[in-house]
Amino acid sequence: MAGPAFIDTLVDIVGPTHVLTSEDLTSSYVRDWTGRFVGSTYAVVRPGNVDEVARVMAACETAGIPVVPQGGNTGLVGGGVPRSGEIVLSLTRLDTIGRVDVHARAVTVGAGATIAAVQHHAAQAGLDYAVDLASRGSATVGGTIATNAGGLRVMRFGATRSQVLGVEAVLSDGRVIRHLDGLVKDNTGYDLGGLLCGSEGTLAVVTAARLRLVPQRPEVAVALVGFASVGSAIAAAGEWSGAVDGVEAIEFMTASGIELVGRHLNLPPPFPVTPPALLLVEAAGRVDPTAALAEVVAGTQGVGEVAVAGGPADRGRLWRYREAHTEAINLEGGQTTPPHKLDVTLPQGSLAQFVEEVPAVVASVAPAAHTWLFGHAGDGNVHVNVTGVVGDGDEVDDAVLTLVASHGGSISAEHGIGTAKVRWLHLNRSATELEVFRSLRDAFDPSGILNPSVLVPR
Ligand code: MLT
Ligand code: ZN
Repeated sequence: MAGPAFIDTLVDIVGPTHVLTSEDLTSSYVRDWTGRFVGSTYAVVRPGNVDEVARVMAACETAGIPVVPQGGNTGLVGGGVPRSGEIVLSLTRLDTIGRVDVHARAVTVGAGATIAAVQHHAAQAGLDYAVDLASRGSATVGGTIATNAGGLRVMRFGATRSQVLGVEAVLSDGRVIRHLDGLVKDNTGYDLGGLLCGSEGTLAVVTAARLRLVPQRPEVAVALVGFASVGSAIAAAGEWSGAVDGVEAIEFMTASGIELVGRHLNLPPPFPVTPPALLLVEAAGRVDPTAALAEVVAGTQGVGEVAVAGGPADRGRLWRYREAHTEAINLEGGQTTPPHKLDVTLPQGSLAQFVEEVPAVVASVAPAAHTWLFGHAGDGNVHVNVTGVVGDGDEVDDAVLTLVASHGGSISAEHGIGTAKVRWLHLNRSATELEVFRSLRDAFDPSGILNPSVLVPR
């Protein structure tokens, strides 16, 4: 483990104000957003540029010190906090954002830039960054690459991997790989940027990325639609994906989630009587999609109450019901029973059955727990959140993830494996695939110091 001499080495590289060692300064880096994953660290190191990252990594490798790279610490699977006393390598100071190349529709940004900052910057040039998520103000480009984050618009633009044209990254021994030209066609060997997407800090430390930007869609329509049953809502999500031009998001909620959000965040209910299931749908383009969206919604079976947003503020009001789920569920769980957040994808044909089955499956192993269901119905991604779980609650995770696998789904849609789902990765990946994963780790990081506890642990 690190000793005082090693701390001096880090201070020599990044300066004394960027090596944090006292508990009051490191506490926010060792605890995840939910409070479920808490670790400890000898030091948090905050380099200010790629050369400093390279020197820190070289020093850690020489000393055999394990490292957890960290962005905005918005991860939800315990993959970005030091569970085994690792040093935390915080990338938030690498937040430069380059000039937007309007013709190429691309921009090069530091790993520490937040998603909101990139979106804002792109907007100045009439463009947009397609990845969007509720934690946009804190989530960083590096962190979202590490998890191949999805978010709200995957059904239209794909997840983070689809936006990454190239990366700059530091290997565990301090060598730098840099491929940031972002050429439209580039078949010069392995796509290392693509490989680093979803690698959860196990292969290299991403320090910058060339990102694809998309045109802005100035005309936006948002509707909150009530359904009498989960089944009819999920069926509608499947239909709307192909039926509405420019549909970007179809988000699923239930009456209990809406009630929870209202209770914890003081929001009035959207309708006089909250329907059992709801979809929030957004379409956007150059031409106002409101009329087309309203027509498709009106022609859909099982539709009850409908609220169509009247303008940007009203859109925000409707989106708040969906985006506030994470916060409300955390408040419900409290410090003592933080939520188990099981982010999964189902084949569209099994999604309704899964959503109907999963509360009873949870109740069979944790009768006092409560299951909250919401998510990105447009791409089959449901967030199964469980509060009131006592103890480590492995039986809850096991029951839910086994059910997912039995339906042919994925145990991680967009949050990653982290430390939380390591035990269940075999449900989706064969022994041979896991062997290849380990070989890749060994090739990139032979000394085994990069995020050793996650994905396929050392
Ligand atoms: C979301 O869709 O809101 C995020 O993935 C966060 C969460 O699952 O709580
Ligand atoms: Zn999500």
